[in-house]
Parts: sequence; structure tokens; C-alpha cells
Amino acid sequence: MKISNICCIGAGYVGGPTMAVIALKCPEINVVVVDKNEDKIKAWNSDDFNKIPVFEPGLKEIIQEVRGKNLFFSTDIKLAVEQSEMIFLAVNTPTKTEGQGMGMAADLTNVENSAREIAKFANNNKIVVEKSTLPVRTAEKLKEILELSNNNYRFQVLSNPEFLAEGTAIKDLFNSDRVLIGGDDSPEGEKAIDALVDIYKKWIPEHKILKSNVWSAELSKLASNAMLAQRISSINSLSAVCKKTGANILEVSEAVGADSRIGSKFLQPSVGFGGSCFQKDILNLVYLSITNGLPEVAEYWHQVVKINNYQRKRFVNLILEKFENNLSNITISLFGWSYKKDTNDSRESASIYISEMLLAKGASLNIYDPKVPAAKIKVDIENRLILQDLNSKDRSQILSRVKIFNDIYECCSNVSVVAVLTEWLEFKNLDWQLIEKQMKDPYLIVDGRFIISKNKLSNKLKLISI
Ligand code: NAD
Ligand code: UGA
Repeated sequence: MKISNICCIGAGYVGGPTMAVIALKCPEINVVVVDKNEDKIKAWNSDDFNKIPVFEPGLKEIIQEVRGKNLFFSTDIKLAVEQSEMIFLAVNTPTKTEGQGMGMAADLTNVENSAREIAKFANNNKIVVEKSTLPVRTAEKLKEILELSNNNYRFQVLSNPEFLAEGTAIKDLFNSDRVLIGGDDSPEGEKAIDALVDIYKKWIPEHKILKSNVWSAELSKLASNAMLAQRISSINSLSAVCKKTGANILEVSEAVGADSRIGSKFLQPSVGFGGSCFQKDILNLVYLSITNGLPEVAEYWHQVVKINNYQRKRFVNLILEKFENNLSNITISLFGWSYKKDTNDSRESASIYISEMLLAKGASLNIYDPKVPAAKIKVDIENRLILQDLNSKDRSQILSRVKIFNDIYECCSNVSVVAVLTEWLEFKNLDWQLIEKQMKDPYLIVDGRFIISKNKLSNKLKLISI
């Protein structure tokens, strides 16, 4: 089956980059990315390519090349569904905030609503591809929605989870370790899988395209994220042991990672993992384990998230210890708001939680990030205050202690502490003499990313790491 028209519902961090790369690599396929968020679609269509809503190295150049040729961004979901043989779902699947499974299970409202829209607008048989990360057996639910709402046509549901990481999305998409496609074990299922394989084959070597049943594909995505996050929590838990014993976590990480059975990737100690997915997907796995009567498995994976929360608290405690637990009248400069370098995404960033804890202890914050807009930083902080049930007067009072800067050196004016929270490259090459001139006692630099070199600092600046 030859695919000439595809659409993707969801123009976010996954939908935008993945469809841009498909459009680039398959010029004969027409690709339409749709979203219900009009502002986001406007931004994707902006004349100024610096205003596209996702910052990813290399993405802007691809959009420049293919947008308006065979890549289109639109809010017209009906037309896009009608015209496409294959429809990707790349909508967000956050952790549920209410109802059964609250705080753990994935909220499938967006996926289910998208399936209803597809069923409503479908005018012939369609292949629906899950790109969003979903609990095991969601494909079954989607098929049920599609076929109950539209019994004129047949739908094949494939699971094709996305493994890209933000900041390296284009590189990851060009050169994927693997592409995973799960489908029904039936002639129609196989045909649908092959249609998707034909698309990826344009640039991914065929031996890297893995085929599986749908449930394996869905579970493999949760498992991959859980195992990646588990390595980070493992090394972070050991960083706490290092602090107590005098061992050096970087040396330990290097020594452990040199074992080829273990490998060195994802052993970088840090202030804790952030991002919209690791915590969400592990909690989803925890919920899946609980609902399948596997409490020991649930507890095992839950511990990965608990250590991550512990690491953030441990970072804050490193500062509190120096000020006898009270940060009133202390200004702290935070370097970095995004959850990792090379992205403008701040979802679940450690910076958010660390700010909340520092503000609760009375600190004032000066914040600098090269890519996250000031308005977004304020919203992130305010959202945490709303969760604390604070009224708007109290919230404004706390927010008045937060200042956002476009210039990193101005951000250090009169601060007692610099806290390094994101590993942006520019933080490695700072003029520390200039920073020292702006700072005041006790001239504390707390490095949550191990990127500040002691050799570059004068004796006055006291460097401690997580
Ligand atoms: P996102 O929030 O950046 O984008 C999702 C988009 O879907 C939003 O723009 C939203 O408006 C749109 N949307 C939601 N419901 C819709 C509907 N009914 N109709 C039209 N548009 C709708 O999310 P994301 O980061 O791109 O993640 C999407 C999925 O991919 C999630 O399941 C996530 O777990 C998974 N994933 C994310 C990454 C990542 O790096 N962000 C990587 C791999 C997998
Ligand atoms: C992660 C996975 O790496 C992707 O494969 C997956 O597709 C994606 O989640 C997803 O499902 O959303 P991402 O969260 O974008 O990608 O970025 P990572 O590079 O995995 O980093 C996640 C967090 O862990 C960041 O806060 C990062 O700073 C932190 N990290 C990473 C560490 O603290 N130490 C490390 O060694 C590696």
C-alpha cells in the first residue's frame, strides 16, 4: 500500500520535528500537521523562522526547506483527516490530575478525542499510528472508539513510539538507534506495518526497523524511558553516598561506565531528571504494575521517581546548610530554566521545584535562561504556587521576589549564591571574574550539573557540587 498523504494530530515537540523530518526525507509524501491550538499553528507558520514554537538545533533549517512544499501546518483537522491515508497521533498524554489513577495513570483524553475526530471525519479506510507514549493496550481502546463511532470504514492501529530526546531531536530522527512498529498479527495489520516501514526505509537502514505486536511496542516505550531514568537515579543516589564518604561521583561514574556491560551513557550525575516524560512514563508503569497485581514491581520503579525528588531536595539543602535554614534577604541566581540544554522546554524542570523550595525559605531569585521566555518562567512558578492553594495576593507577594534577566552577568548582581541548574554550553565559558565582582558574601557557587571548572574560579568563589 503506497502512502501519499499523511497527517499528524499534535504539533508539539514530537509532532513538529518528526513530521518535518518525514517531509524532508519523503518529498513525494504530503504531510499536514494539525493542532487545536491556533496560536501554536500560527507560530509554526510564522514568516520569522526564529518564532517557530519548538527550539531544536537543525529544525529551523528543515522547516525553511519543506514548509509550503510538502509540509503544512493547519487547524483544519477535518480536511487533514479526509485527505490522509495514514494519521499519526502525537498529542500530549500527561499524568491524570483527577479520577481513577490520579497522580499516576496517563490521561488519555487527548488521544481518545483525536480518535473520535478521526472516526467522525474518516471518508475511507485509515491507518492510525500511535506516536504519543501510551499505556499498554491503548491501541485496543482506540480501535474500539474508531469502529464504534464509524462502522463504514476499517481502521488499523499501529504503535510507533517516538524515542527522540529534546535538544538532539533532529539528530535522533535522522539516525535512530531503532524504529519500532507494532501492529496486528493479521494480513491487514501486516499491510499497515509494511506501509509505515516503506516510509522509514527512505532513510533508516531496514535492520534498524523492528516489528512487533502492538502491546510489545507500547510497553517497550515505557520500559526504555524507565530504564534510562533508572540509570540517572542510580548515579544520583550514589552522588549522595559520595558526599558522605569523600568519594568523587565523577570518578565513580567514569569507573563504573568503563565496564562495557554497563556503558557510560546516562550516568551523568545531576540535579535530577526533568522533562515531560520520564516521571510521567514511570508513574504510568507503576500504575500498570499496581493494576496488574504486581506491587513489588510497582515499588521498584516508584523508587526511581522518589530518588529524583530526593536529589532536588538535597540540592536545596546544600544551600540551606550554609544559611542556617533561612534564606530571607538572600538573593540566589539560578542559571538555567529548561530541563536540559538545547531546548526551550521547561516541563518538569528541576529548576521549577528548586525555585519553589527556595522561595518557601524566603529567598529572592534572579533567573537566567538563554531560551525559555521570561513569561513562561513566571507561569511555571505561579502554577506551583497555585497548587499550594495560595491566594492571588500571596502569590504576587512571592512572585515579587523573582526577577528574570536577559543578561547572565546582570543576573548575578548582589547575589550571595549562584546555582547552576541546566548544562547550557555557555555556562562553561563564563567570565567568573566579572561574576565575582557582582556577587557578595559568601560567594557560593552550587553546581547541579558538574560543568563549572574550579580552575576558572578565584579563591573567593566557593564551589560545591551536588
Ligand atoms: P506537546 O504538548 O508538545 O504537543 C502536543 C500537542 O497536541 C499540543 O500542541 C496540543 O495542543 C495538541 N493536542 C492535544 N489534543 C489535541 C486534539 N484533540 N486535537 C488537536 N491537537 C491536540 O507534547 P509532546 O512533547 O510533543 O509529546 C507528545 C507525546 O509524545 C506524549 O505522549 C509524549 O509522552 C510523547 N513523547 C514526547 C517526547 C518529547 O521529547 N517531548 C519524546 C518521545 C515521546
Ligand atoms: C527522554 C529519552 O532520552 C528519549 O529517548 C525519549 O524519547 C524522551 O525522554 C521522551 O519519551 O520524552 P528527554 O527527556 O528529551 O528524552 O531528554 P534526556 O536526554 O533523556 O534527559 C532527560 C533528563 O535527564 C534531563 O533533565 C537531563 O538533564 C537528565 N539527565 C540525562 C541526567 O541528569 N543525567 C544523564 O546522564 C542524562
